[in-house]
Amino acid sequence: MELKTIGLTKRYSTKTAVNNLNLTLRSGVYGLLGANGAGKTTFMRLLCTLQAPTSGEILLNGKNVRKLGEDYWKLLGYLPQSFGYYSYFSALDFLLYVAALKGLDKNAAKKKSLELLEAVGLIGDARRKIKTFSGGMKQRLGIAQAMLNDPHILILDEPTAGLDPKERVRFRNLISLFSKDRIVLLSTHIVSDVESIAEKIILMKAGQLIQFGSPLEIISEIEGNVWEYAASPQQAEEYSSRFNISNLRQEHGKTILRIISGQSPGPEAVSVPPTLEDLYLYYFKGVENP
Ligand SMILES: Nc1ncnc2c1ncn2[C@@H]1O[C@H](COP(=O)(O)OP(=O)(O)O)[C@@H](O)[C@H]1O
Ligand SMILES: [Mg+2]
Repeated sequence: MELKTIGLTKRYSTKTAVNNLNLTLRSGVYGLLGANGAGKTTFMRLLCTLQAPTSGEILLNGKNVRKLGEDYWKLLGYLPQSFGYYSYFSALDFLLYVAALKGLDKNAAKKKSLELLEAVGLIGDARRKIKTFSGGMKQRLGIAQAMLNDPHILILDEPTAGLDPKERVRFRNLISLFSKDRIVLLSTHIVSDVESIAEKIILMKAGQLIQFGSPLEIISEIEGNVWEYAASPQQAEEYSSRFNISNLRQEHGKTILRIISGQSPGPEAVSVPPTLEDLYLYYFKGVENP
């Protein structure tokens, strides 16, 4: 299976939210990473054909997905970034309802709903009303509904928002098991959410694709640009104003600064291996709303 975008562009009146994206996705887990406003949600909505591109196209195995219509939608599962819940439904009733909308027959729907409630750790809460759920529980239910039709292409917009560390581990395992022979695309602006789960990272900034590759591949871009320096309190302040600081920690009365810089920030600075977090800061430092 190959999902391909060619010159995919979405313009709102003055804003180009997605700008000429050329990407080919095959089976695997893809992490769509970018600051708020980078264009992640718009890109995902385009992929789901919920919005029409201003120009460009999306092809599934060479065929335009708009022309495929129903044949394409059948393969899709989607978790929108803001998801409306039917608060007076129980978790199970809600899944059965979505399953009916997706055209599953009654028996298959019940079986699949229970299976998914188990997989997302909500089986014990299947008959509780959604209005009594925590944010993380609602989010897990949202993930379950996206998977009801056993989609070949699973698109999750900020699926880990609101999940606690334990729920994140469960989510990661669920996705790893599920992703075999499927395309899973998940967006986030939190690096650690995709670092260990995505095989490929799609880095978006201001609507454009700025990096695409495995974490190791794209991290190597900034090899030699990350430094650590043990600074006194006065130096720490000076360096912080002069350099892009990715991290700082206190150790034995010194402040250890992690600095992103093309040149050595000082004679005592030590070059260290970059992380994905460093790369993200390298691109997004100071970017509030690109
Ligand atoms: N319906 C819309 N009308 C006008 N501008 C929009 C609309 N939706 C999104 N945008 C703008 O497009 C850009 C990308 O937004 P979005 O796709 O939501 O990014 P992300 O999901 O990465 O935060 C932002 O600048 C946003 O303000
Ligand atoms: Mg978004």
